[in-house]
Amino acid sequence: MSNKWVILMGFFILVVSACTNDQLGLTSSSGSDSTGGVCFQSDVLPIVVNNCANAGCHNPKDREEGLDYTTYAGIKKSVKSGNPSKSELIKVIRSGEMPPRGYPAISQTDLSTLTAWIAEGALNTQDCSALDCTSAANVSYSQTIVPIIKKQCIGCHTARLSEAGYSYDIYAEVLRSVNNNSFLGSIKHQASFVPMPYNAGKISSCEITFIETWIAEGKKNN
Ligand code: HEC
Repeated sequence: MSNKWVILMGFFILVVSACTNDQLGLTSSSGSDSTGGVCFQSDVLPIVVNNCANAGCHNPKDREEGLDYTTYAGIKKSVKSGNPSKSELIKVIRSGEMPPRGYPAISQTDLSTLTAWIAEGALNTQDCSALDCTSAANVSYSQTIVPIIKKQCIGCHTARLSEAGYSYDIYAEVLRSVNNNSFLGSIKHQASFVPMPYNAGKISSCEITFIETWIAEGKKNN
């Protein structure tokens, strides 16, 4: 190959990779919910997973009625964007058909959240962080870490559901998970851990940095 060709190809690769990076940047920023509406990742998915994806129900393994409600695409199949009353997801809850006998009913608050999300267009909003990542962080457990956990994890990791045995509304439980490396391993999507939040995009790098800072500063309950 002549030098001219090598240079041309190098230039081409540069242009292509620059475009890809640019697109990636765009995707992640448009994913955040700047309108302050209902957030799919932190508001909707935990409600649906908690109430509908139990063993034997709408999870990837059992797929009751062919439905897997642990992903956006799966939930979307039962939703008519902008029209809650025409959405199967809302209809079966309102009629009392779902969850079936023997399972706790969905709370009014949760039903309102699902209804509002559909009315707002049933968007796949991820990483709806309100954290100000530009400010120099003065990280504390109560002011920084608890709000992140409440937004990103608590839907599935409270005493009520305690997925994987972790109730992150308890400091000692957060500490246990941090100390066995599963907390960071999961949120950083490291190989030997189940990626968290479950079936959703990574939490923002700013949130991960705050958590790492809190750990480096001694994991204090402050
Ligand atoms: C929508 C529900 C949901 C949300 C939100 C969620 N988790 Fe989980 N989490 C699960 C489920 C379900 C499992 C069990 C997964 C499995 O075993 O396949 C799990 C397992 C875990 C585990 C054990 C993973 C392992 O490989 O040992 C950790 C640690 C964890 N979650 C941390 C978190 C953290 C931290 C957050 C918030 C950033 C979070 N989770 C948000 C549902 C959720």
